[in-house]
Amino acid sequence: MSEDRFVLSPSLLSSDFSRLHQELTALEEAGLQWVHWDVMDGHFVPNITLGPLIIEKCRGKSSLFFDVHLMIERPDEYLEGFAKAGADLLCVHAEAANHLERTVSRIRELGAKPAVALNPHTPLCQLEYLLPQLDMVLIMSVNPGFGGQKFIPFSLGKIRDLKKMIQDQGCKTLIQVDGGVDLSNAGELVACGADVLVSGSAFFGHPPYRQRYQEFRETVRGVRPG
Ligand code: DX5
Ligand code: ZN
Repeated sequence: MSEDRFVLSPSLLSSDFSRLHQELTALEEAGLQWVHWDVMDGHFVPNITLGPLIIEKCRGKSSLFFDVHLMIERPDEYLEGFAKAGADLLCVHAEAANHLERTVSRIRELGAKPAVALNPHTPLCQLEYLLPQLDMVLIMSVNPGFGGQKFIPFSLGKIRDLKKMIQDQGCKTLIQVDGGVDLSNAGELVACGADVLVSGSAFFGHPPYRQRYQEFRETVRGVRPG
């Protein structure tokens, strides 16, 4: 975690894929520490994006923390490939894994940090017993598959409830929020308990990146801790 109360993880989905290397360099130069990779398989979600090969090629050219969001069916079959490609964190969807505990343990065995994503309709109780094993929980605040969608307001209550669950269990799990995050809700999300904000269109659509990052930091700084 940085000295800020939150980490910003820009979602490359809204970046210029034809200039991926330059985009990663620009993020580092702008002072970002994390970058969010959206992996989509055309089955779990309607869209198709990228696989381990692209991540591996970029790994050698970037020291950013690679936060990899797997929106794919049968994630177990691909964990090793993504870990070897250089993912620092692997986030699987609870809805896509039949044996989630096994999947999470496998991610850690492979040397990556395990995280689980929940679609908007998926209740938190699915993670009640797994929470201590997770480095992060991703609360989807849109239905996954596309950038630029509208934030679903009930996600705020879900973040508050998750924060309480984490505190009650005394664990250190981070809360990440993904979908429709922008300057208008970033402060409130952090006040509710979010530690990592993913932003695609509201970040890449507003260069220069250093200035945009600064705007996110300032909005969050203006909000009282929750
Ligand atoms: C959506 C992806 C997000 C997406 C967010 O399925 O998981 O990471 O890129 O994009 P914005 O911030 O534009 O909603
Ligand atoms: Zn994502």
